[in-house]
Amino acid sequence: MLQLKAVVAGYGGGSVLQGVDLECAERTITCVVGPNGAGKSTVLRVISGLLAPTQGEIRLDGEPIGGRAPDEILRRGIAQVPQSHALFPAMSVQENVLMGGYLIRKDRRLLRERLDQVEQRLPIVADRARDHAGNLSGGQRRMVEIARCLMLDPRLILLDEPSLGLDPRGLAGVAEVIHELNQAGTTVLLVEQNVRLGLGIATHGVVMEGGRVRLTGTAAAVRDNPEIASLYLGGSPTKAGDSPWTNASRPPSHTGGPGSPPTA
Ligand SMILES: Nc1ncnc2c1ncn2[C@@H]1O[C@H](COP(=O)(O)OP(=O)(O)O)[C@@H](O)[C@H]1O
Ligand SMILES: [Mg+2]
Repeated sequence: MLQLKAVVAGYGGGSVLQGVDLECAERTITCVVGPNGAGKSTVLRVISGLLAPTQGEIRLDGEPIGGRAPDEILRRGIAQVPQSHALFPAMSVQENVLMGGYLIRKDRRLLRERLDQVEQRLPIVADRARDHAGNLSGGQRRMVEIARCLMLDPRLILLDEPSLGLDPRGLAGVAEVIHELNQAGTTVLLVEQNVRLGLGIATHGVVMEGGRVRLTGTAAAVRDNPEIASLYLGGSPTKAGDSPWTNASRPPSHTGGPGSPPTA
């Protein structure tokens, strides 16, 4: 369904992605893991059109989409849930969700129909419709972020670190929603710092390092890879906030403060 071939991209200075090859088959859940700064979020940005690749190809069902505008990519069925803080806290849950339907705003009937569908899939959207998004827990906010991106009924959902900052209950809820979406036919590509959780819910795994893909395979094969297992999932539990990657330099706000998920 989605195919990246030798994709090079960066932010003006040098290239962050140094020739990324990646594939997502229909109805799979692919989880990208790797140290901070590896280029994981950048991969999602080139797919969703927020960043244009300088070299290489991105194809959706065989059609090149690399460098297309974000709204065109969205219309083609790829929706991204950005990394945290993506809701408007002073707006209601329903208003936030409706913003996800911006591209179909003129078709009131379709908008209503989609909102109904989303409410059925994620009951919090109806239950907390009038509450300010800012009053929700972290896990609930993540649900609303996902709900918002479902308004366009995407075929492929891109999730950047959905577990970030969630407590165990929030984590379980998000994992369940991802699983349900996938069961309903949506293809998922997620980036996760919580490797155990990410590879636990994924069908396929991709390990990135230094702007390149180092390893791909089924999630089980990646999990069982001796090197990955010892780096991420090894016997002695890693201290909260300790990155198993020696070259990682996660900013303090992400290094396992209160409420951070376990990293290994
Ligand atoms: N907006 C930006 N402008 C300039 N450099 C950036 C920007 N975003 C990310 N980078 C750089 O690109 C590299 C990869 O970042 P990113 O894709 O966010 O990594 P990851 O998500 O794996 O932690 C990092 O070195 C980062 O500093
Ligand atoms: Mg990132």
